[in-house]
Amino acid sequence: MKKAAVFGSFVVDLMARSPHLPVPGETVKGSMFKMGPGGKGFNQCVAAHKAGSDVVMVTKVGTDSFADVILDTMKDLGMSREHIFLNKDTETGIALIIVDENTSQNEIIIVPGACNTITAGEVASIEDVIRKCEYVLLQLEVNQNANEMVADLANKYGCKVILNTAPYVPITDEFLAKCYMVTPNEVEAEAITGIAVTNLDSAKKAAAYFKKKGVTDVVITLGSRGVFVSSKGKEAIIPAYKVKVVDTTGAGDAFNGGLLAALAEEKELWDAVRFANALAALSVQKLGTTPSMPSREAVDKFLADHE
Ligand code: RIB
Ligand code: NA
Repeated sequence: MKKAAVFGSFVVDLMARSPHLPVPGETVKGSMFKMGPGGKGFNQCVAAHKAGSDVVMVTKVGTDSFADVILDTMKDLGMSREHIFLNKDTETGIALIIVDENTSQNEIIIVPGACNTITAGEVASIEDVIRKCEYVLLQLEVNQNANEMVADLANKYGCKVILNTAPYVPITDEFLAKCYMVTPNEVEAEAITGIAVTNLDSAKKAAAYFKKKGVTDVVITLGSRGVFVSSKGKEAIIPAYKVKVVDTTGAGDAFNGGLLAALAEEKELWDAVRFANALAALSVQKLGTTPSMPSREAVDKFLADHE
């Protein structure tokens, strides 16, 4: 098994379930509140770790009590906390999440806080980690100059950069050129390429855009319609598994963490996407983000049941 790293966000998720999503000016009486670990980076790392990956988490938190949420969770899961940087002056990030209990649609505001203040010195301190990794997975929730520095380090050592382009923020062509693989959803793919991804044909066009910028493999998640893959001249949509949805928050993270774990296990990309789809399908059946990431045992059983 190859080593991997996730460089990205940690925030505390403050999640309320509500009979409907409030319109501006409206107060809605919610039915449930839950606080727990989240942030796309951390969700993805926990997904990969629980899937059996040898994966290192790199992020930054404040020195407030919210920081204990990541530190305690990592301790419980047996993950190394060596690369969790601290900022004494900025609070740990948070996300306000509202989930509509009928449609399971969500609305999220993220304030990345401390994980938006990762310094050049901190990135330099993980040079040895990146040097040993086959893959590093990035998202777009931390300060982008830190992502760019990590991509440079990764390129220096032949560590492949997987970029989950979530949430959408503008990125440069220069940064894209440093990425081996991109994993946008259809909304992000359209925001970056200008091509509305609605079917196989338009997905192929979006993939061509990324490839022209220097990306090798393109994986576009299409929600319940499945996942488009473009790799080594082969392009197709792998269907998603049909399951009963409780909460889709974090499903993209389950997918990306699963993909990282499978690739680090040297699975072929097509099999890796099926494996990642299974993580996503299991995660949507549970409430919450980090806490809904499945065990390896559950993933293997799900795949065996759905052959
Ligand atoms: O992808 C889900 C995540 O996005 C949540 O955990 C929340 O923290 C937001 O960053
Ligand atoms: Na979930």
